[in-house]
Amino acid sequence: MGDRQDRMHVGMFFKNTGHHIASWRHPDSQPDAGINIRHYSECAQAAERAGFDFIFFADSAAVRETDIEPLSRSSQYTAYFEPTTLLASLAMVTERIGLVATQTTSYNEPYNIARRFASLDHLSAGRAGWNVVTSGNHAEAFNFGRDEHFEHEDRYRRAKEFVEVVEGLWDSWDDDAFVYDAPEGRFFRPDGLHKLNHEGDFFRSRGPLNVPRPPQGYPVIFQAGISDSGKELAAATAEGVFSGELTLEKSQAHYDDIKSRMTRYNRGPDELRIMPGLTAIVGRTTAEAEDKERELAELVHPVVGLAYVGTLLGLDLSDHDPDDKVPDPFDGPRGDHGMVRGIMELVHEEDLTIRQLYEKLAGSYGKLTIRGSVTEVADTMQEWFEAQACDGFILQPLTMPGDFDDLCELLIPELQDRGLIRVGYEGETLREHMELNRPQSRYAR
Ligand SMILES: Cc1cc2nc3c(=O)[nH]c(=O)nc-3n(C[C@H](O)[C@H](O)[C@H](O)COP(=O)(O)O)c2cc1C
Repeated sequence: MGDRQDRMHVGMFFKNTGHHIASWRHPDSQPDAGINIRHYSECAQAAERAGFDFIFFADSAAVRETDIEPLSRSSQYTAYFEPTTLLASLAMVTERIGLVATQTTSYNEPYNIARRFASLDHLSAGRAGWNVVTSGNHAEAFNFGRDEHFEHEDRYRRAKEFVEVVEGLWDSWDDDAFVYDAPEGRFFRPDGLHKLNHEGDFFRSRGPLNVPRPPQGYPVIFQAGISDSGKELAAATAEGVFSGELTLEKSQAHYDDIKSRMTRYNRGPDELRIMPGLTAIVGRTTAEAEDKERELAELVHPVVGLAYVGTLLGLDLSDHDPDDKVPDPFDGPRGDHGMVRGIMELVHEEDLTIRQLYEKLAGSYGKLTIRGSVTEVADTMQEWFEAQACDGFILQPLTMPGDFDDLCELLIPELQDRGLIRVGYEGETLREHMELNRPQSRYAR
């Protein structure tokens, strides 16, 4: 591909007690972690000591639509802080680590998002990133005056225009517009102010934004949709992509696909980092990693396990016995979705029951999992990176603390020893950590 970075970029995906669906029941977890600022502060500081490019918070503006029985036994997305508010707080207890959060383009206005991330970028001195999603959770519609989610294509057309407006608003002021000249009585240079005057299919926004241009020019833009329109949006606008391919070959194809689409938007392949979501189950030995996974698997309540596999496959499994065979999902509403196909390949290869399947996927939400000793896990990560299947990874700890500490204390030093990632921070901003250029204002180009 040419011009490729010679180092991987690694982020840490925070989730209250961790990504494992039974993590909140682990004896070392604090069940109220989702609304416990001390918990998040300590984890953010530990991630910074380890040297991650950034910490990331996913989001959904609604409790998931599931039956009340499994919902009441689960900690996933029911009681947690709104992520940009949380990041503002974490900016005050950290100094270098990047701070990335999801905000949806379906249920926000561009002006609000431009203002929020510009503020976050100033108060963190250039460490903010925005994960642009169109919303995976259909229940969000019910909280914003709608009976159903926007149609898929419209969602993405809206998202593309949304990002254009946000970036336009971030350019409202030249970098040096605010002169603060008290003796002359001049606060800003009049010619440093630009009104956007945007009128498009979905939005009208005049501007200017009432926050100066962000320290990074634009906060770093991430994208996590896996559909074709999601990939196109990534090629057009994203600088980081959270991907979900399960094999090296599929990830290579996905990597090539997105990077070659970028030429259509006059962008070079090195302007974007592709980072698969990775559940890395590490131990000092293979046996230690297996024990950690088994201990958590035993904590999965069967009602939660059935609902979890049901959601992944798009089936209602509430009347099934966990020891039943996994039913064929291809006639269900998720049908031939890529992730469903990947999961069913696993089911057939290993002849899994529903229980065995949820125990296997309980930490990953169907994304890539690598199990083993630190050496084995680092070998696979290195193989993926060197084979151009990715530019790095976003790690999804099973439990926080616990597995999270193992990733910081075992895996990261191993990757550093191999020269695959930097040791400590070399720059100040998230862009510098990710080796991305600072965009010039459209008025200076
Ligand atoms: C690491 C990772 C993080 C994600 N975070 C979110 C999120 O916070 N909110 C969300 O709605 N979708 C998130 N997604 C994407 C969803 O899984 C889903 O693909 C997307 O919302 C729907 O877009 P699509 O139709 O293009 O696939 C994430 C995906 C990955 C791989």
